[in-house]
Amino acid sequence: MKRYIAAVALLAGILCGRHALGADPAKHDAAEQNPKSLTANTGFYPNDNGPAEIDVSGYPKEMRLSYKVFAFKCAACHTIARPINSQFLELTEDEIKKAKVDDPDLFKDDKLVKAEIGVWNRYVKRMMSKPGCPVGKDGKQIFEFLVFDSKARKTGANAKAWREHRARLLHDFKEKYPAAYETVFGIGK
Ligand code: HEC
Repeated sequence: MKRYIAAVALLAGILCGRHALGADPAKHDAAEQNPKSLTANTGFYPNDNGPAEIDVSGYPKEMRLSYKVFAFKCAACHTIARPINSQFLELTEDEIKKAKVDDPDLFKDDKLVKAEIGVWNRYVKRMMSKPGCPVGKDGKQIFEFLVFDSKARKTGANAKAWREHRARLLHDFKEKYPAAYETVFGIGK
């Protein structure tokens, strides 16, 4: 009986392993040793330890639908905590000019907020170019969601709360996983 339970637990661990990727460094190491796995070598980011869902109840209907596509497709290799807690904020040239006047702190530390023209466009394309990526024709819809959602959660009334949240993730990650922190951000940052 004990053996049976152990086998079931092991199988559950294998099946659910990808959901825990990043949360548990031991599991993460195991995934890295299996080069055939889609989830292998996805790294380990402070983002991975933040929430893996967004409350989209206040978003327009179109964005609520896009959230579902994003949440399904972008969870194939790492959890969606990674994009959800990312520093990326895509703005247009005019939005950047305006933000520099309205909220100069937005540009103080690009580990908290990386406000850039085309940043999500670049990263969605980067993810789509990875072998086995299931995003396909949904790339544009996901990209539009990420642009909208990042502005909603990282600027304006939520700007300060976002930076505090992200600073906490960085602080905890640096303390618990100093080597991984250096891998992501470089030494001395
Ligand atoms: C085929 C596997 C795969 C899929 C699917 C995937 N990713 Fe990734 N993702 C990776 C890997 C591997 C990394 C590690 C860094 C790199 O290679 O860019 C990563 C890293 C990231 C990062 C962190 C980048 C950084 O430097 O801070 C973000 C954000 C991200 N992914 C967002 C997404 C989004 C959004 C989607 C859905 C459009 C997605 N990922 C789908 C494999 C994937």
